[in-house]
Amino acid sequence: MCGIVAYVGPKDAAPILLEGLQRLEYRGYDSAGLAVVNSRSLKTRKVKGRVADLASVVPARFKGTLGIGHTRWATHGVPSDVNAHPHLDIEERIAVVHNGIIENADELRSRLETDGAVFSSETDTEVLAHLIGRTVKETDSLEEAVRKALNSVVGTYGIAVVDAQRPGEIVVARNGSPIVLGIGEKEMFAASDVAALIRYTRQVVHLEDGELAVLKADGFHTFTSDARETAKEPFTVDWDAGHYDNGGYEHYLLKEISEQPDTVARTLRGRIDDRFHIAHLGGLNMDARETRSFRRVKIIGCGSAYYSGQIGAQLIEELARIPADAEPASEFRYRSPVVEPDTLYVAISQSGETYDTLAAVQELKRKGGRVLGIVNTVGSAIARECDGGVYLHAGPEVSVASTKAFTSTAVAFALLALHLGRVRDMSPADGRRICEGLRRLPEQIKEILTMEEQIRALAIKYAEAPGMMFVGRVRGYPVAREGAQKLKEISYVHAEAYPASELKHGPLALISADLPTVAVVPDDELLDKNLTTLGEIRARHGRILMVGHRTADAADDCVVVPKNENELDPILLTIPLQLFAYHAAVALGRDVDKPRNLAKSVTVE
Ligand code: F6R
Repeated sequence: MCGIVAYVGPKDAAPILLEGLQRLEYRGYDSAGLAVVNSRSLKTRKVKGRVADLASVVPARFKGTLGIGHTRWATHGVPSDVNAHPHLDIEERIAVVHNGIIENADELRSRLETDGAVFSSETDTEVLAHLIGRTVKETDSLEEAVRKALNSVVGTYGIAVVDAQRPGEIVVARNGSPIVLGIGEKEMFAASDVAALIRYTRQVVHLEDGELAVLKADGFHTFTSDARETAKEPFTVDWDAGHYDNGGYEHYLLKEISEQPDTVARTLRGRIDDRFHIAHLGGLNMDARETRSFRRVKIIGCGSAYYSGQIGAQLIEELARIPADAEPASEFRYRSPVVEPDTLYVAISQSGETYDTLAAVQELKRKGGRVLGIVNTVGSAIARECDGGVYLHAGPEVSVASTKAFTSTAVAFALLALHLGRVRDMSPADGRRICEGLRRLPEQIKEILTMEEQIRALAIKYAEAPGMMFVGRVRGYPVAREGAQKLKEISYVHAEAYPASELKHGPLALISADLPTVAVVPDDELLDKNLTTLGEIRARHGRILMVGHRTADAADDCVVVPKNENELDPILLTIPLQLFAYHAAVALGRDVDKPRNLAKSVTVE
């Protein structure tokens, strides 16, 4: 989604802004721009296209030690040079970059036009530039002008604003769209994502919704939209710039798939207790009595996070015997959910910034719900909003499609289920079985990764199909859903996932020689049922690629993965489907890391 970078300090801003924007490319965008302040005037460049296109139009001598940059993902108005940010006020004194959506932009625009404003773009952001431009003349203070202008705005924003008449300061604000400040040596940064500033500093401060900050080279101060000063404690990010490199892989996606033995090991590290066969999850902030008091678990997340939540719900029901289910956060937040005191709510997010998930958590908190977060990004908005939780420690995920965060989330759920189970009725023997199974995962993932060539050949074989069906039963169903999601989002091949048990209730009509099926078939108590389903597909001339723990006569092709405990098998069965989607996308020549129309972290509604 859109990206923001801002810099004030002793150095030339433009190279720093361009470098920061490059670091945000992974989030998806369609145009880019920047503005620097020099000799009390604004210099801007903006283009439709990539950051490299922007760099090619920024002159070598583009002096100015304060500036803002942006990558835009079009919402109001087509991708174009004119609609790209920054946007300026009529006197070209104020420049604004903005992530989010101003909902009352039309109304504000008409009011400003009646007062003589002339707009050059179709964007909602330009409204902000004009509003701030007017107010700054009345108040002669940029921070006051931004604060007042934002008080008349309805919507979501992360913004950075500069004033040509105040060449030493940048004002930033957040409401629903992340802004993080980076503290350097006599220089300050701001960005929508730590990725943009990690090269320069790891000391960061996250703004809360409704908070603003003034950045100067020698420091910053923060305050609320009603002008009350706030106190912020910086913290050190434990990711470094190296985490954002592609490590010699052709694509970040393949790097992230290949990292999974390590990322899963990191999610597990220090959390398994072999003495009592329990999980240590210090961040839950709940004692045993409270942990026992929950009668239901409700899991929310979006997209792949939601599918990993389905694996989580299954794990919690099986291991802790607590009724559990998962629902898309994007639906949950809109249906005025009944929030019950004896339900434990769990929100999942890799980025920690997905707006739908954040809004669902806020709704839950407002109604007094107890919410845990399973989050990858430390200090992110969702992590801050939750009562406690489990960090994944999977390192930054750069490719738009989620892989390592998915598996680490499923592993975090296995730990949570073990924890909930062992404070209830799960026996030490079962606890030991799960602890041992969890410890085997990293090596087994390594083993699956050695099968890449076989999976690549299969991906090439099936990639030309016009569409694919994915089926799985109970534990296999979320795996099938995630497999279909990966394939469709990065290869653009239509893929539909169904519970294998539902096939004969409708979608069997689709099965023919033209629609191959990927069947997720673990060796568990449902094996025979699954093999019967394969027979039904076969009888309709459907081709079958089976992913499981054995081969089967009904399948045309089989990928046989190592077996773990039944409850943990979904984690391993997911990995071949990630590789399958990746190689299908490569075979079809897709932009694997930045699939069309998608963004890494969806911070708009
Ligand atoms: C799919 C994918 C998305 C995200 C979803 C939630 O590969 O990446 O479906 O899983 O947008 O994102 P987070 O986990 O950041 O909240």
